[in-house]
Order: sequence, then C-alpha cells, then structure tokens
Amino acid sequence: MKSDFIAKHWYASMYEKFENQTHDVDFLLRVLTEQTGNQPQNILEVACGGGRICVPLAKANHFVTGFDVDEHMLLNCYRRMSGLANIRCYQADAAISVWGVAFDLVVMAGNILINIESEIDYKEAQKTLIKNAAAALRTGGHLYMDFDLHNNPTARFNRLKESSYFKGTDELGTNGRTVSYGSVYDPITQICTGTGHWELTTNSGEQINITKCWYKHIPTQMQVYDWLSDAGFTIEHTYQNYTAEPIPEPIGEATNRAIIWARKL
Ligand SMILES: C[S@@+](CC[C@H](N)C(=O)[O-])C[C@H]1O[C@@H](n2cnc3c(N)ncnc32)[C@H](O)[C@@H]1O
Repeated sequence: MKSDFIAKHWYASMYEKFENQTHDVDFLLRVLTEQTGNQPQNILEVACGGGRICVPLAKANHFVTGFDVDEHMLLNCYRRMSGLANIRCYQADAAISVWGVAFDLVVMAGNILINIESEIDYKEAQKTLIKNAAAALRTGGHLYMDFDLHNNPTARFNRLKESSYFKGTDELGTNGRTVSYGSVYDPITQICTGTGHWELTTNSGEQINITKCWYKHIPTQMQVYDWLSDAGFTIEHTYQNYTAEPIPEPIGEATNRAIIWARKL
C-alpha cells in the first residue's frame, strides 16, 4: 500500500479520536434555532471532514450536503451518517469546484478559513470560499462562519518549540505521532509558516516519515468583513468565543474565536 494512503488514513483516524468537541456544534444549533425557528433548512457544509458538524445538523432534521477534499475524512462522515436519509456527502476541492445553488445556509465552521488546503494563493482561496458561499445561497440565505481570530497574530503564531498534537494507533495498526517544530508569522504578508513531520510505523514495522511544511494567510477582522461585503453579504450577527457577546470592533485581547451570521443580499 502507498505510504500516502497509510498516512492519510492514520491522520483521519486520529482526527476522529481527538477532535470530538461538541460545544461549537451545540452553539451552531442554538444560533440556527434562534435565527430560523425550527424550520428545516437546506444546508451545505464546506469541508465537512468526518461529519462532526453536518451529522448533528441532519439529526436536527435539516437537509444536509457536506463535501470535503479528503476521502479518508469523508469515509468517517459516511460511516457516521448511516441510517440518515436527509444527508449526503461527496468529495470536492472547495477552492476550485462549483458548490451548487439555492441553499438556505452555508456552514464554514471548524476553522476551515484558516485550514484551507489548496494549490491557489492562500488569501485568494479564502476570498474564493466566501464568494463561492454567496453563489451557493439563495437570496436571503445565510452564511455561518466559525474561525480563529486573534488581535495579535505575531504573539500567537511566532513560536519555535517542538510539540506533538496527535499520537496513537489507527484501525489498520499504523502507529505514530505528529511532530511540529513551530511556526513563524510575517506581519507584512500576514503569512504564518510552519514545519514538522509525521512519524509513522506501519502494522508490519516499516517506518514512514512524512515532511509537513505548511503556510496559512491569517486575515484581519476587517479583511474578512470586507470580503463578505464584496461577495454581497451583510453581517447580521457576530458572536465572540461561542457567547452571546458580539465581536468588538476592533477585536480585543479576549477574542480568539469569531462566529459570523451573514445574509446574502
Ligand atoms: C479542521 S478540519 C474540519 C473538519 C470538520 N468541519 C470539523 O469541524 O470537524 C478541516 C477540513 O477541511 C478540509 N479541507 C481543507 N481544504 C479543503 C478544500 N480545499 N476543499 C475541501 N475541503 C478542504 C480537510 O480535508 C479537513 O477535513
């Protein structure tokens, strides 16, 4: 079997094991109830991964479509949606695909804005996702965004220290850990660059080391607000750190998570 397959399978399995928080999903369900009553919505979740968010949406009686670029993550979503007739999922790259039309709600949660994997320029990919969300919505439909937002990215992302985020053994018997050596943030380009590797041992004892060099564009609050406005959205509500508190303008030290509810005009 190819090392890439083994590694991606292992990572998707570790994601399932360690990224199983529900507070953000509960918050989304509350906002949805507040903003739309209990009317079932036709929802698109972008980068749905293993279905941590889209499956509870389907269980809350919405009609849900989820897509993700990673087929190993999607396989976990497919397993989780067993028996639910009101959800489907498929594989696609959000930055280069057409998402469909006339959805009531597009969900871009789970910090996808800061975790886009794409061949195109990072900032362009961020703007493209927001534009694609507008194209996928009916007039009057809504975009729900949930992403990391910090008032001092230099302090947050300039850190050179070895750490391991995921560690464990998957269902195929692959054992391993992620190793990060930290990241550096350039305040002029707003690009954060990091390096590390995945250290894996297959079920037959073969060692696999996969180099991981990544970069992300860290947008400011105003950039995101401008991209939304350029794409034809009006922001109706903002929520700071999963509370009823709106996000202050400009954001302060207390802000680390931004949740935005925006209507397509
Ligand atoms: C942090 S995970 C979030 C998954 C899920 N939404 C959740 O919250 O559990 C990010 C997901 O984005 C997906 N992803 C990254 N870039 C993508 C792209 N260009 N198109 C589609 N999915 C993408 C990854 O495969 C991964 O499943």
